[in-house]
Amino acid sequence: MASENNPIGGPSRGHVRHMFDEIADAYDVTNRVLSLRRDVAWRRRLTALLPDGPKPPRLLDLATGTCDVLIAAHRAGRAAPGSVGADFSAGMLRAGAKKLDRAGLGGALRLVQADATRLGFADARFDAVTIAFGIRNVLDVEAALREMCRVLRPGGRAVILEFSMPGNALLRAAYLLYFRHVLPRLGGLVSGKPAAYRYLNQSVESFPYGRAFCERMEQAGFAGVTARPLSFGIATLYTGLRPGA
Ligand SMILES: C[S@@+](CC[C@H](N)C(=O)[O-])C[C@H]1O[C@@H](n2cnc3c(N)ncnc32)[C@H](O)[C@@H]1O
Repeated sequence: MASENNPIGGPSRGHVRHMFDEIADAYDVTNRVLSLRRDVAWRRRLTALLPDGPKPPRLLDLATGTCDVLIAAHRAGRAAPGSVGADFSAGMLRAGAKKLDRAGLGGALRLVQADATRLGFADARFDAVTIAFGIRNVLDVEAALREMCRVLRPGGRAVILEFSMPGNALLRAAYLLYFRHVLPRLGGLVSGKPAAYRYLNQSVESFPYGRAFCERMEQAGFAGVTARPLSFGIATLYTGLRPGA
Protein backbone atom coordinates (compact mmCIF):
# COMPACT_ATOMS: atom_id res chain seq x y z
CA MET A 1 0.00 0.00 0.00
CA ALA A 2 1.37 3.46 -0.90
CA SER A 3 2.08 5.62 2.11
CA GLU A 4 0.02 8.78 2.47
CA ASN A 5 3.17 10.80 3.19
CA ASN A 6 6.13 11.35 0.93
CA PRO A 7 9.21 9.78 2.57
CA ILE A 8 11.52 12.34 0.98
CA GLY A 9 9.57 15.31 2.26
CA GLY A 10 7.72 16.33 -0.94
CA PRO A 11 3.94 16.67 -1.22
CA SER A 12 1.78 13.89 0.24
CA ARG A 13 -0.45 11.65 -1.85
CA GLY A 14 -3.52 13.51 -0.56
CA HIS A 15 -1.92 16.83 -1.49
CA VAL A 16 -1.24 15.69 -5.09
CA ARG A 17 -4.80 14.36 -5.47
CA HIS A 18 -6.29 17.57 -4.09
CA MET A 19 -4.10 19.66 -6.41
CA PHE A 20 -5.42 17.79 -9.48
CA ASP A 21 -9.01 18.01 -8.20
CA GLU A 22 -8.55 21.78 -8.04
CA ILE A 23 -7.06 22.32 -11.50
CA ALA A 24 -9.27 19.77 -13.34
CA ASP A 25 -11.55 22.26 -15.10
CA ALA A 26 -8.67 24.39 -16.41
CA TYR A 27 -6.30 21.45 -17.04
CA ASP A 28 -6.73 21.01 -20.81
CA VAL A 29 -6.57 24.66 -21.78
CA THR A 30 -3.53 25.26 -19.52
CA ASN A 31 -1.75 22.27 -21.09
CA ARG A 32 -2.35 23.52 -24.62
CA VAL A 33 -1.13 27.02 -23.77
CA LEU A 34 1.98 25.98 -21.81
CA SER A 35 3.14 23.40 -24.37
CA LEU A 36 2.03 25.36 -27.47
CA ARG A 37 -0.06 22.26 -28.30
CA ARG A 38 2.98 19.99 -28.39
CA ASP A 39 1.22 17.82 -25.79
CA VAL A 40 -1.33 16.80 -28.43
CA ALA A 41 1.42 15.73 -30.86
CA TRP A 42 3.29 13.87 -28.09
CA ARG A 43 0.18 11.86 -27.15
CA ARG A 44 -0.29 11.03 -30.86
CA ARG A 45 3.27 9.66 -30.90
CA LEU A 46 2.41 7.62 -27.82
CA THR A 47 -0.65 6.02 -29.42
CA ALA A 48 1.41 5.13 -32.51
CA LEU A 49 3.54 2.89 -30.25
CA LEU A 50 0.55 0.86 -29.04
CA PRO A 51 0.18 -2.69 -30.41
CA ASP A 52 -1.21 -2.65 -33.95
CA GLY A 53 -2.73 -6.11 -34.46
CA PRO A 54 -5.86 -7.24 -36.29
CA LYS A 55 -7.81 -6.47 -33.10
CA PRO A 56 -7.27 -3.26 -31.06
CA PRO A 57 -5.53 -3.91 -27.71
CA ARG A 58 -7.38 -3.96 -24.39
CA LEU A 59 -5.88 -0.78 -23.00
CA LEU A 60 -5.48 0.53 -19.47
CA ASP A 61 -4.57 4.24 -19.34
CA LEU A 62 -3.27 5.09 -15.88
CA ALA A 63 -3.39 8.61 -14.42
CA THR A 64 -5.83 9.15 -17.28
CA GLY A 65 -6.84 12.62 -16.06
CA THR A 66 -9.11 14.23 -18.63
CA CYS A 67 -8.85 11.15 -20.91
CA ASP A 68 -6.78 12.63 -23.76
CA VAL A 69 -4.74 9.43 -24.23
CA LEU A 70 -7.78 7.18 -24.02
CA ILE A 71 -9.66 9.24 -26.63
CA ALA A 72 -6.63 9.52 -28.96
CA ALA A 73 -5.97 5.76 -28.70
CA HIS A 74 -9.59 4.88 -29.39
CA ARG A 75 -9.71 7.21 -32.40
CA ALA A 76 -6.51 5.66 -33.76
CA GLY A 77 -8.04 2.17 -33.45
CA ARG A 78 -5.59 1.27 -30.65
CA ALA A 79 -8.05 0.83 -27.77
CA ALA A 80 -10.64 -1.94 -27.82
CA PRO A 81 -14.15 -1.23 -26.55
CA GLY A 82 -14.12 -1.75 -22.79
CA SER A 83 -10.66 -0.20 -22.42
CA VAL A 84 -10.22 1.56 -19.09
CA GLY A 85 -8.94 4.89 -17.81
CA ALA A 86 -7.91 5.03 -14.13
CA ASP A 87 -7.05 7.99 -11.94
CA PHE A 88 -7.18 8.78 -8.22
CA SER A 89 -8.57 12.32 -8.67
CA ALA A 90 -12.38 12.44 -8.75
CA GLY A 91 -12.20 15.96 -10.23
CA MET A 92 -10.03 14.90 -13.17
CA LEU A 93 -12.25 11.85 -13.77
CA ARG A 94 -15.37 14.04 -13.80
CA ALA A 95 -13.79 16.30 -16.44
CA GLY A 96 -12.69 13.19 -18.38
CA ALA A 97 -16.16 11.60 -18.23
CA LYS A 98 -17.70 14.77 -19.71
CA LYS A 99 -15.20 14.63 -22.58
CA LEU A 100 -15.93 10.95 -23.25
CA ASP A 101 -19.65 11.74 -23.38
CA ARG A 102 -19.11 14.69 -25.72
CA ALA A 103 -17.03 12.44 -27.99
CA GLY A 104 -19.79 9.79 -27.93
CA LEU A 105 -17.43 7.33 -26.22
CA GLY A 106 -19.12 7.15 -22.80
CA GLY A 107 -20.41 3.65 -23.55
CA ALA A 108 -17.25 2.31 -25.18
CA LEU A 109 -14.64 3.28 -22.58
CA ARG A 110 -14.73 2.86 -18.81
CA LEU A 111 -13.37 5.09 -16.06
CA VAL A 112 -12.40 3.92 -12.58
CA GLN A 113 -11.08 5.78 -9.56
CA ALA A 114 -7.92 3.96 -8.52
CA ASP A 115 -4.42 4.53 -7.25
CA ALA A 116 -1.77 3.48 -9.76
CA THR A 117 0.21 1.74 -7.01
CA ARG A 118 -2.60 -0.67 -6.04
CA LEU A 119 -4.85 -1.60 -8.92
CA GLY A 120 -7.85 -3.84 -8.44
CA PHE A 121 -7.37 -5.61 -11.80
CA ALA A 122 -6.48 -9.28 -12.20
CA ASP A 123 -3.01 -10.26 -13.44
CA ALA A 124 -2.53 -10.21 -17.25
CA ARG A 125 -5.88 -8.41 -17.82
CA PHE A 126 -4.60 -5.92 -20.47
CA ASP A 127 -2.67 -6.00 -23.78
CA ALA A 128 -1.26 -2.50 -23.25
CA VAL A 129 -0.86 -0.02 -20.39
CA THR A 130 -0.14 3.68 -20.86
CA ILE A 131 0.61 6.57 -18.54
CA ALA A 132 1.18 10.11 -19.85
CA PHE A 133 2.65 12.81 -17.60
CA GLY A 134 1.47 10.72 -14.67
CA ILE A 135 4.31 8.54 -13.41
CA ARG A 136 6.25 11.59 -12.15
CA ASN A 137 3.32 12.44 -9.87
CA VAL A 138 3.07 8.98 -8.30
CA LEU A 139 4.93 8.91 -4.97
CA ASP A 140 5.92 5.23 -5.17
CA VAL A 141 7.14 4.97 -8.78
CA GLU A 142 8.49 1.45 -8.22
CA ALA A 143 5.10 0.15 -7.03
CA ALA A 144 3.26 1.74 -9.99
CA LEU A 145 5.70 0.24 -12.51
CA ARG A 146 5.35 -3.19 -10.88
CA GLU A 147 1.54 -2.89 -11.03
CA MET A 148 1.74 -1.93 -14.73
CA CYS A 149 3.82 -5.04 -15.41
CA ARG A 150 1.50 -7.28 -13.36
CA VAL A 151 -1.74 -6.29 -15.15
CA LEU A 152 -0.15 -6.72 -18.62
CA ARG A 153 -0.43 -10.10 -20.33
CA PRO A 154 2.94 -11.72 -21.11
CA GLY A 155 4.23 -9.93 -24.21
CA GLY A 156 1.96 -6.94 -23.48
CA ARG A 157 3.39 -3.43 -23.85
CA ALA A 158 3.70 -0.44 -21.55
CA VAL A 159 4.10 3.01 -23.10
CA ILE A 160 5.08 5.86 -20.78
CA LEU A 161 5.22 9.54 -21.74
CA GLU A 162 6.99 11.90 -19.37
CA PHE A 163 8.82 15.20 -19.31
CA SER A 164 12.63 15.07 -19.48
CA MET A 165 15.57 17.43 -19.97
CA PRO A 166 16.97 18.39 -23.40
CA GLY A 167 20.45 16.91 -24.00
CA ASN A 168 21.83 20.08 -25.63
CA ALA A 169 23.27 22.41 -22.94
CA LEU A 170 22.06 25.62 -24.61
CA LEU A 171 18.55 24.28 -25.15
CA ARG A 172 18.49 22.96 -21.59
CA ALA A 173 19.38 26.41 -20.23
CA ALA A 174 16.61 28.06 -22.29
CA TYR A 175 14.15 25.35 -21.27
CA LEU A 176 15.00 25.76 -17.58
CA LEU A 177 14.54 29.50 -17.86
CA TYR A 178 11.06 28.96 -19.31
CA PHE A 179 10.28 26.19 -16.85
CA ARG A 180 11.41 28.00 -13.72
CA HIS A 181 10.27 31.53 -14.45
CA VAL A 182 7.66 31.69 -17.24
CA LEU A 183 5.69 28.45 -16.85
CA PRO A 184 4.74 28.80 -13.15
CA ARG A 185 3.46 32.36 -13.74
CA LEU A 186 1.67 31.58 -17.01
CA GLY A 187 0.24 28.31 -15.62
CA GLY A 188 -0.93 30.14 -12.49
CA LEU A 189 -2.54 32.86 -14.58
CA VAL A 190 -4.43 30.53 -16.94
CA SER A 191 -5.50 28.00 -14.28
CA GLY A 192 -5.86 30.36 -11.33
CA LYS A 193 -3.77 27.88 -9.25
CA PRO A 194 -0.14 29.07 -9.19
CA ALA A 195 1.01 26.46 -6.62
CA ALA A 196 0.17 23.58 -8.98
CA TYR A 197 2.41 25.01 -11.66
CA ARG A 198 5.28 25.65 -9.25
CA TYR A 199 4.97 21.96 -8.33
CA LEU A 200 5.10 21.04 -12.04
CA ASN A 201 8.51 22.54 -12.64
CA GLN A 202 9.93 21.20 -9.36
CA SER A 203 8.69 17.67 -10.04
CA VAL A 204 10.05 17.64 -13.60
CA GLU A 205 13.51 18.80 -12.57
CA SER A 206 13.88 16.12 -9.91
CA PHE A 207 12.47 13.16 -11.89
CA PRO A 208 14.83 10.59 -13.48
CA TYR A 209 14.82 10.44 -17.28
CA GLY A 210 16.53 8.63 -20.15
CA ARG A 211 18.75 5.72 -19.10
CA ALA A 212 18.02 6.27 -15.39
CA PHE A 213 14.28 5.83 -15.97
CA CYS A 214 14.85 2.82 -18.26
CA GLU A 215 16.71 1.17 -15.35
CA ARG A 216 13.74 1.82 -13.05
CA MET A 217 11.48 0.06 -15.60
CA GLU A 218 13.87 -2.89 -15.86
CA GLN A 219 14.06 -3.19 -12.06
CA ALA A 220 10.25 -3.32 -11.97
CA GLY A 221 10.28 -6.32 -14.35
CA PHE A 222 10.05 -4.88 -17.87
CA ALA A 223 12.11 -6.29 -20.77
CA GLY A 224 13.18 -4.70 -24.07
CA VAL A 225 12.95 -1.20 -22.58
CA THR A 226 13.43 1.70 -25.03
CA ALA A 227 13.52 5.51 -24.70
CA ARG A 228 12.67 7.94 -27.54
CA PRO A 229 13.29 11.63 -26.84
CA LEU A 230 10.66 13.98 -28.35
CA SER A 231 11.04 17.69 -29.23
CA PHE A 232 14.81 17.79 -28.48
CA GLY A 233 14.29 15.83 -25.25
CA ILE A 234 11.63 18.02 -23.62
CA ALA A 235 9.60 14.84 -23.31
CA THR A 236 10.50 11.16 -23.65
CA LEU A 237 8.50 8.11 -24.68
CA TYR A 238 9.48 4.87 -22.94
CA THR A 239 8.30 1.40 -23.92
CA GLY A 240 8.74 -1.94 -22.18
CA LEU A 241 7.33 -5.45 -22.50
CA ARG A 242 6.09 -7.83 -19.87
CA PRO A 243 8.40 -10.82 -20.36
CA GLY A 244 7.17 -14.34 -20.93
CA ALA A 245 5.20 -14.33 -24.22
C1 LIG B 1 -0.43 15.73 -15.31
S1 LIG B 1 -1.89 14.79 -15.18
C2 LIG B 1 -1.85 13.77 -16.63
C3 LIG B 1 -3.21 13.44 -17.17
C4 LIG B 1 -3.27 12.75 -18.52
N1 LIG B 1 -2.61 11.46 -18.49
C5 LIG B 1 -2.70 13.60 -19.63
O1 LIG B 1 -1.98 13.07 -20.48
O2 LIG B 1 -3.00 14.79 -19.68
C6 LIG B 1 -1.42 13.64 -13.92
C7 LIG B 1 -2.57 12.77 -13.46
O3 LIG B 1 -2.03 11.76 -12.61
C8 LIG B 1 -2.99 11.47 -11.61
N2 LIG B 1 -2.28 10.76 -10.53
C9 LIG B 1 -1.21 11.19 -9.82
N3 LIG B 1 -0.83 10.26 -8.93
C10 LIG B 1 -1.67 9.19 -9.11
C11 LIG B 1 -1.78 7.92 -8.49
N4 LIG B 1 -0.95 7.53 -7.52
N5 LIG B 1 -2.74 7.09 -8.93
C12 LIG B 1 -3.60 7.46 -9.91
N6 LIG B 1 -3.56 8.66 -10.52
C13 LIG B 1 -2.61 9.51 -10.12
C14 LIG B 1 -3.53 12.84 -11.25
O4 LIG B 1 -4.77 12.79 -10.58
C15 LIG B 1 -3.63 13.50 -12.64
O5 LIG B 1 -4.90 13.30 -13.22
